[in-house]
Amino acid sequence: MDEAQGTGAAQDGPAAAGHDRAEVGGFYDRFTRLTLGNAPGANLHYGYWTSPDDSATFEEAAAQLTALMIQEVRLPASGHLLDVGCGIGGPAVQLARVTGAEVTGITVSHDQVTLANRLAADLGLADRVRFEYADAMELPYADASFDASWLLESIIHMPDRGHVLKEIARVVRPRGRVVFTDLCERSPLTADEQSTVDEFFQAAKMSPMVTLDSYPRLVREAGLVLDEVRDISDNVMWRTTRELSRQMREARAEIDEKFASDPAYQLDPARLSDITALGYVLVVAHCP
Ligand SMILES: C[S@@+](CC[C@H](N)C(=O)[O-])C[C@H]1O[C@@H](n2cnc3c(N)ncnc32)[C@H](O)[C@@H]1O
Repeated sequence: MDEAQGTGAAQDGPAAAGHDRAEVGGFYDRFTRLTLGNAPGANLHYGYWTSPDDSATFEEAAAQLTALMIQEVRLPASGHLLDVGCGIGGPAVQLARVTGAEVTGITVSHDQVTLANRLAADLGLADRVRFEYADAMELPYADASFDASWLLESIIHMPDRGHVLKEIARVVRPRGRVVFTDLCERSPLTADEQSTVDEFFQAAKMSPMVTLDSYPRLVREAGLVLDEVRDISDNVMWRTTRELSRQMREARAEIDEKFASDPAYQLDPARLSDITALGYVLVVAHCP
């Protein structure tokens, strides 16, 4: 088996089939119809707590994860970032405000494009932050047209990580940085853990995980140069799954009213919090 495609355990089960852009886009279009899908701060990703004593709220911790991405992508004010899987725009506007750089964000959810462009306009950033509908599997951009790119928790939805990274390596200029986060398999999961993870991944339209040690090869085969693979699971996973569980409990009445039959909203994320083999990784690379 190809090492970069993960272990047998990660490939088997219902989550083994990838999801196409229409399925993933539909999932996020529906999500924007919930208050939960329009998070304050417009961040649709996990939190990053600097230590167990970090008292940041979930919203602050989500902004801290974006801040880590901004630090690693090292974009000057004159730079142009391609934000692949931009959500409703929070990370892109945070980067634009901190660095002064330009951002093009893409997503496969039409509703997210509308919300993200509205956010940029409301913040007076529409002249240098824009969002479009595009699929990371077929980027509609010329070679070397961006200074850097990131994927903040979006590659997990994509059917072929290697292909997406090759596409990104094509559109980023020589020596431009490529940074991404991903859910990954830190150590082998038990059969029970695997079936719990598969249930969640299938409901949330995510692709199978790959193992933590597969990233160097994945990055190299995409034509990129690896700088770092950082396991940040301890800063991210336990508290995020607890926070997501709390948010879902608070939103239960709205969820039941709008999506009673959707499996994505019936599963309690707290069930993932004790699966320590389920990890979260930050990968930093650059174009040669
Ligand atoms: C968990 S959200 C993260 C959003 C954003 N990066 C953030 O951190 O707030 C995943 C995002 O990936 C996008 N996505 C998934 N598959 C995609 C694809 N093939 N091409 C472009 N975007 C994709 C989704 O539409 C969604 O916006």
